[in-house]
Amino acid sequence: MTESKGKYYITTPIYYPSSNLHIGHTYCTVMADAMARFKRMTGYDVMFLTGTDEHGQKIQEIADKAGVSPQEYVDNVVAGIKELWKTMEISYDDFIRTTEDRHIRRVQNLFMKIYENGDIYKGEYEGLYCTPCESFWTESQLVDGKCPDCGRDVKPAKEEAYFFRLSKYADRILRLYDEHPEFLEPESRRNEMRGFINQGLEDLCISRSTFDWGIPVPIDEKHVMYVWLDALSNYITALGWSEDDEKYQKYWPADVHLVGKEIVRFHSIIWPAMLMSAGLPLPKQILGHGWLLLEGGKMSKSKGNVVDPVKLIDRYGIDALKYFLLREYTFGQDGIFTNEVMLKRMNYDLANDLGNLVSRTVSMIEKYDGGIVPDIDKSTWTDVDEELKNTAVSAAAKVEAQMDRFAFNMALEEIWIVVRRANKYIDETAPWILAKDEEQKGRLDTVMHNLAEALRIISVLIYPFMHTTADEIRKQIGLWYAEPEWSDASEFEMMSGEQVKKGNPIFPRLDIEKELAELEAMNGPKEENIPLELKDEIVYDDFDKLDLRVGTIIEAEKHPKADKLLVFQMKMGTEKRQIISGVANYFKPEDCVGKKVVVVANLAPRKLRGLESKGMILFAEDEADGKETLQFVSTDAADGNSVN
Ligand code: MSP
Repeated sequence: MTESKGKYYITTPIYYPSSNLHIGHTYCTVMADAMARFKRMTGYDVMFLTGTDEHGQKIQEIADKAGVSPQEYVDNVVAGIKELWKTMEISYDDFIRTTEDRHIRRVQNLFMKIYENGDIYKGEYEGLYCTPCESFWTESQLVDGKCPDCGRDVKPAKEEAYFFRLSKYADRILRLYDEHPEFLEPESRRNEMRGFINQGLEDLCISRSTFDWGIPVPIDEKHVMYVWLDALSNYITALGWSEDDEKYQKYWPADVHLVGKEIVRFHSIIWPAMLMSAGLPLPKQILGHGWLLLEGGKMSKSKGNVVDPVKLIDRYGIDALKYFLLREYTFGQDGIFTNEVMLKRMNYDLANDLGNLVSRTVSMIEKYDGGIVPDIDKSTWTDVDEELKNTAVSAAAKVEAQMDRFAFNMALEEIWIVVRRANKYIDETAPWILAKDEEQKGRLDTVMHNLAEALRIISVLIYPFMHTTADEIRKQIGLWYAEPEWSDASEFEMMSGEQVKKGNPIFPRLDIEKELAELEAMNGPKEENIPLELKDEIVYDDFDKLDLRVGTIIEAEKHPKADKLLVFQMKMGTEKRQIISGVANYFKPEDCVGKKVVVVANLAPRKLRGLESKGMILFAEDEADGKETLQFVSTDAADGNSVN
């Protein structure tokens, strides 16, 4: 039996049920699930929490557009999310929805606690607001004048709101990073957060009065809570904090909050500050993982370029997908998702390495020993046996060491060292030759026994990552009756007398070219028609107010007083005029000359750092190497002509 090592509380972010989840979200949950399963197997009392973050303006807007109530909308999407986790056999212990009464009451308790401690006050918020992200930004936080998180436009906004005295906690949070560097990993994220705090922390707006899809502020019915106070507190409300707190007492503080890199800031600055204010213990660790990107950039539903995990699971099964996600990517770094890389992993590591080892071993034991694993004949023991045994029994400790660092890919690599060693052992010992010689029966028995041992150990080691495959292997090697125990992975010589039975190949070999073509066809743009997320609809009269014209750029130079601006001299039919655009980060002046572009010609002139700009040139946003870029919207029409 594995000894009990105490509790382990791990969380995923709570996902926005704005639309179905894609493979990027799945990635985080698969990591958390593997860790939860690993910790359970290695003797911890695990609490694994996930859930959904259901309030906010964005959800309200989407529901309005869909013509249903926000509650109906989220109920529907959340049902799909739960279905996905069920299909993937995600082993969460609780699923918290922020629309549940238990959450609502407890968040209100947290609000009151912080309020009573003097850290919430009423003020007026003025700032630049990004509607999709529901975030206010200051001028200095913008990147190229756009929202630093999503790159979209922001607009000035002002509202009466409640504020949390975040600024008061800046020093304590910096001290937390100094005294407990492990609180936030990887280190690069910690440095980023230090930089962010050093720029000056402003108090945080924690309420809204412009929409009502949220948890009411207990002291003011005109306001609902701003999503991050609502969302972050899920980690304690799910444990019953402030009401029925047996689980809270047992599991809090969390051992790890696993989060994507763009929400590290909320978890490592705002969340600890709120807890400090409420006098509650802090989570032990925030781990920020990277993003799965597509070759063209980030996955986004609005761009229609998401990878749907359900389609991949239907085709390849949950374990192949989980293996790929955990093996291919390095924790903390971004990674590119491609079908080809995925299929190669599935073929080489799963069908070839592991699949072959299972089918060869089981077939040989059936053929040479009537399906019963023979005893080792000690007199035939050699160095290769010793090496296989050592590789196999020492792997568990190595896997543990890698899992301590959340290095899932390296943990799996340690297991595959055993898989590959065992395959090589078959080639080295050549059992088919031993089988031809009666005299070698003792040696053949040893080899068969050792291979069965190696498979048994592998079935234990892979259990946290691919439990259905582990179960299938255990069925084939006759261990269907026994739960895998982690400590068994360090033992040898347990397999004598077990009855093996060949089953279906655990991972069929894939024809990569054919699969690629079929996946392509499945995701091809012809078959998908996902409506774009657009600004509010306009009527023809609105459009008719625009006078769009073709213009030729005849000169271009940098603005003498602003790094980001280019000054263009334009020819537009009979007229010459000057237009200034904030595109110096994207184009060299000399590359612009001669381009024919579309211009909003009747836009009121304005001065930009002392120079007049008359009109606006249209550019199209694009992406190259994962970075935002711009393209000219060109035309061959003669300049001065209308565009309509
Ligand atoms: N609701 C907030 C989290 C609140 S936690 C108290 C939220 N939700 S989200 O649905 O937008 O994102 C949830 C998680 O999914 C984030 O950690 C995010 O980084 C992750 N991912 C979303 N797209 C991703 C990829 N393409 N790749 C990896 N993870 C990604 O933020």
